[in-house]
Amino acid sequence: MSTSHSIVEDRIKQLRDELNRHNHNYYVLNAPEISDREFDMMMKELESLELQYPEWDDPLSPTHRVGSDISKGFGQAAHIYPMLSLGNTYSIEEVDDFMRRIRTALGSDDFEIVGEMKFDGTSISLIYEHGRLIRAVTRGDGERGDIVTDNVRTIRSIPLQLQGSGWPDHFEIRGEILLPWKAFDKLNAERAYNEEPLFANPRNAASGTLKMQNSAEVARRGLDAYFYYMLSEDLPADTHYANMMEARKWGFKVSSATTLLHNIDDVDKYIQYWDTARKELPVATDGLVFKVNSLWQQLNLGYTSKSPRWAIAYKFQAERALTRLQHVSFEVGRMGIITPVANLEPVLLSGTIVKRASLHNEDIVRTLDIHEHDMLYVEKGGEIIPKITGVESADREPGAKPVQFVTHCPVCGTELRRIEGEAAWFCPNKYGCPPQIVGRIEHFVGRRMMNIDGIGEETAQMLYDAGMVTGIADIYDLTRERLLSLDRFGERSAERILQGIEDSKNVTFERVIYALSIPYVGETVAKKLARAVGDIDTLMNMPVSDLIEIEDIGPRIAESIHEYFAVSANIHNIERLRDAGVQMSMPVEATVEKTDLLSGKTIVISGTFTKHSRDEYKELIERNGGKNSGSISKKTDYVLAGDNMGPAKLEKAKSLGIPIIDESQFLAMINMD
Ligand code: IVH
Repeated sequence: MSTSHSIVEDRIKQLRDELNRHNHNYYVLNAPEISDREFDMMMKELESLELQYPEWDDPLSPTHRVGSDISKGFGQAAHIYPMLSLGNTYSIEEVDDFMRRIRTALGSDDFEIVGEMKFDGTSISLIYEHGRLIRAVTRGDGERGDIVTDNVRTIRSIPLQLQGSGWPDHFEIRGEILLPWKAFDKLNAERAYNEEPLFANPRNAASGTLKMQNSAEVARRGLDAYFYYMLSEDLPADTHYANMMEARKWGFKVSSATTLLHNIDDVDKYIQYWDTARKELPVATDGLVFKVNSLWQQLNLGYTSKSPRWAIAYKFQAERALTRLQHVSFEVGRMGIITPVANLEPVLLSGTIVKRASLHNEDIVRTLDIHEHDMLYVEKGGEIIPKITGVESADREPGAKPVQFVTHCPVCGTELRRIEGEAAWFCPNKYGCPPQIVGRIEHFVGRRMMNIDGIGEETAQMLYDAGMVTGIADIYDLTRERLLSLDRFGERSAERILQGIEDSKNVTFERVIYALSIPYVGETVAKKLARAVGDIDTLMNMPVSDLIEIEDIGPRIAESIHEYFAVSANIHNIERLRDAGVQMSMPVEATVEKTDLLSGKTIVISGTFTKHSRDEYKELIERNGGKNSGSISKKTDYVLAGDNMGPAKLEKAKSLGIPIIDESQFLAMINMD
């Protein structure tokens, strides 16, 4: 075998490995590292090598599949017509080639093109029968996808019942589900606040949201959808454009950019126009799509194994700049996570000056192979946040050293740790590392937590530096005299803070839990916890096995809560907060009539119910003089069991000989049957 052959074989293998890795990053991890264009280039190179050297072909090569977004937890359905992808082009010349191929294949100049936006979201197939939405299925592997009807129903711009008339009894419509920029910014701001990983772009946010198990959360996030393809045995018109205009009348969102084009000049103008105008759109787009209008001509042109011959995508060029790295700084967050940040020579990109860009974690610094003072490519493609996409190694200074990730916390000097399987390094000195402490103080006083007016980022730092507030409980020891002893504090600002502290004593228990900065306990989890446990003592003493029985609490959160309460400093702080008057339990409904039918009885609720909600049962226990507890112990008098009671709880109740009652029996006990 010749050397050139083995070089080819190596290259093929390398491309396959790389493409498989990027496919995984994109579809499974929702964290792409390279642009679509780079991905397409590699795919094209591999396709052409496999064509030239069929002896190296492999049925498992990434060229033979179209990725998959199938995830566990959803039922699946086969697509009636497979969901294909589109060929990509990057220049007007390539689009011109496409038009030429059509002309040749049809043997005629007589065809129209429909120009459309290429929406950068996640594709969806909707099935309508007799004007009603029956099913929504994701693209999956193109043949089968996940049934996400419940989540899709929450999208307000999708018609559940069609308007007007003239729709086929059975049809499918395809489109793109998107998270508009505004909703994306809001979601990421919340996630940044909770130190949850950010979505890199609205596409990942949309597909992540669509796959959530909790459709209420899906509804809250504000997805939107645009439609661009109708399929049926019985279509209303014989052109794509007319079908789309019909769909619009029935209530579907069809982009106003959808336009009939007659020749390459029209196409050129359309590209020129949308290249800039798309920046004003409320949703992310990554290009344009050109489709042959006549359905007869589409039928004539047919398909390749992966995409239609009658349509092509034109991808917009991401805006990119080259600038010099000044240095990499390492920042410590509230949870101790270390983030490397590239500090850049200021450069203008898409209308804003970029000086800093997050490098996210060590793996990314390594993959990019960044050396000191390198020239870096900064891009703002689908991402709002500037992203370092590469290094111009030709411009590397001689002798420049690779950027080293710090081994110790840049602030407190503690040796960093990394959780196995996670990319982030963190400073384990939770209770001694200043930015972590100040971060927790800032979080505690925040608007959605204790809402202590008058203490912001700067004041929190100042109070910490003065040694006055070195932990959350110290806030309640602040006095007028102490505040006035600080520079820049006048009567009014001191008064404002003291009033804020006083008001914070009425903040609900749910928000108190959120305010504590328990790792992985964000706003939603805090609410769930507060409602499930009722008071802090129950929560503090709950074993992991009981915590995981609470709705939406998985093992990672349960472990984290357990660990938090195992630290005596945390318990001590909570006692001080309690003594200061901070709410440590859910309020007992003051207005409802009370009885003592359950006086002295401790009842544990488990499972799901039909007649009343869990929360209502909890309230009924308390209203009748009983105590609701989250975990089963010798002190438990009854277990109120619904459907799907956790096996661990059942086992425990049985072994302790505690009577298990169902909802009817319980309601009879309090004369509500
Ligand atoms: S048509 C058979 N039109 O791009 C042709 N697709 O790369 C089906 N997309 O999976 C697709 N905007 O998720 C079409 N105006 C548009 C589109 C569009 C976005 C997405 C879609 C598809 C992918 C193909």
